[in-house]
Amino acid sequence: MSQNNWQELEQKLFLRTVNRVPLTLVRGQGAWVWDDEDREYLDFVGGWAVNSLGHCPPVVVEALEKQAKTLIQASNQFYTIPQIKLAQVLVENSCLDRIFFGNSGAEANEGAMKLARRYGKLRLNGAYQVITTYSSFHGRTLAMTAATGQSKFQEPYIPLPDGFVNVAYNNVEAIKQATNAQTCAIILEPIQGEGGVNIPDDDYLNSVQSWCREKGILFILDEIQTGIGRTGSLFAYQQYNVEPDIMTLAKGLGSGVPIGAFLAKEHCSVFSPGEHGSTFGGNPLVCAAAYAALKYIIANNIPRKVRQVGNYFITKLESLKQQFDFVTDVRGRGLLIALEFNSDIAEELVQACLDKGLLVNKVKPNALRFMPPLIITEKEVDKAISILQDALEGIRNHRH
Ligand SMILES: Cc1ncc(COP(=O)(O)O)c(C=O)c1O
Repeated sequence: MSQNNWQELEQKLFLRTVNRVPLTLVRGQGAWVWDDEDREYLDFVGGWAVNSLGHCPPVVVEALEKQAKTLIQASNQFYTIPQIKLAQVLVENSCLDRIFFGNSGAEANEGAMKLARRYGKLRLNGAYQVITTYSSFHGRTLAMTAATGQSKFQEPYIPLPDGFVNVAYNNVEAIKQATNAQTCAIILEPIQGEGGVNIPDDDYLNSVQSWCREKGILFILDEIQTGIGRTGSLFAYQQYNVEPDIMTLAKGLGSGVPIGAFLAKEHCSVFSPGEHGSTFGGNPLVCAAAYAALKYIIANNIPRKVRQVGNYFITKLESLKQQFDFVTDVRGRGLLIALEFNSDIAEELVQACLDKGLLVNKVKPNALRFMPPLIITEKEVDKAISILQDALEGIRNHRH
């Protein structure tokens, strides 16, 4: 079937939730993908910050093949080994003590909110409210829509579930003012991803943590986008000298397979059997893949490589900023980077890059985001920069 037929068929069959880029992807290898007409693209979207080790990484493919021939799914009524091995690596390499596995980021955050509410009920006289921030993104379930402090996601679904208070990001005073006897927790992204790669002041997370300790409420970090090496350390909290009480993960954790998790410190691990669950969560097939990916990431110190190649990329983007006066900002940590402009040209740039063989994300009307596989090379960064430079030149010529 030709490219157009797939896209026409999609138009007929799907609920209209997304305006897709007109590109049908059929295979991938490393940082590269190919469409159904065998054109190749350098992939700086990376499955939306998911393909940590690139497309079809051999360690993950091998783990999947082996596990698929052994045990694919079993009920969580029983013990299965891949999820226990994965849990051990995550607990040993983080400041958290216990884990629960689900299938996505939204599900991880939902679970974390339920744990916070249990904590509120048992330890904080029934407190149930969670403070979240504007420009955050925590997922698409109804509760996570209420948690996500962006009106464009909330408005279509009002009335939203109760229990979430949205306040300004990077502003500890706003959190203090919103805290009351009903507050059981605060959830934050260490760096806001979907909101535009917003990096808080160096002391913000630390101040929020101190406030949480003072008030006895839970400090929850959503590391769904920032975790698993993305920002140049295994978890972003490690760069901010804080320790969350609860942390959520998904995206890069499976290097392509769907998995989510939340981890908690012992003092707030307050669930009792039957209070939470998931049929597929911790499924042996995905856990075997995630275990293989995570072992590889740790053994090869991928976070250090992310820092190096991320800094190289940022330096190159800074030089584009020098060349084009309509580029107003370069910001990011590791391989979570944004390039901002003084007008809404991101859409046009995404298209121009696509035409030249580079996939990038429009994170805001006036900003691009780059979230490539963590294993990209400087040579691949050079290629992306040269395509971006061409695209930016196209815009400049078009303007004059
Ligand atoms: C910080 C953060 N939290 C939660 C989510 C939701 O994850 P999922 O789409 O897997 O439900 C995302 C997805 O972009 C995210 O970036």
